[in-house]
Amino acid sequence: MKKVETFDDFESMDQESRYLVHKAKEAAQQAYAPYSKFHVGAALILEDGTLVTGSNQENASYPLCMCGERVALYAAVSLNPGKRIEKLAVVAHRKNQKELVAATPCGACRQVMHEFEERQKKSFSLVLYGPLNKWYVFPSASDLLPMAFDKDSLGR
Ligand code: THU
Repeated sequence: MKKVETFDDFESMDQESRYLVHKAKEAAQQAYAPYSKFHVGAALILEDGTLVTGSNQENASYPLCMCGERVALYAAVSLNPGKRIEKLAVVAHRKNQKELVAATPCGACRQVMHEFEERQKKSFSLVLYGPLNKWYVFPSASDLLPMAFDKDSLGR
């Protein structure tokens, strides 16, 4: 199994990852986060090179807030049925601050990403700016969710 790659410098990452991070940063500008003031952007690339982005969208009824990753993932399959996701990048910053903050996907997004990999019968890579101010490239989004609950767990 391939291992996670870590990079101290953004420039050390491969070109596709840098491109997606750039697009994720742009997507974060469309975040609607008046409550948390935590702006998240996600950008993914499909197998044919199509780019899909998303940002977090909040609501005064807090549980209805939707993470940027899931906005991008659901948009991707809705608009491009049958096309596999290759790589997803996620970044976050606080309102009115350009500097990125470390952000790892929440548990719900990990669960959703895991099912996307199952659905497309292929893993996709996940790029994020995480702990220790490093960049991380996980070969599979499911790496972040060991012992995941999935359709096999249902035993049907
Ligand atoms: N958020 C994301 O967009 N992705 C994550 O994986 C974690 C959290 C958003 C949800 C909410 O709008 C804000 O960040 C604070 O939790």
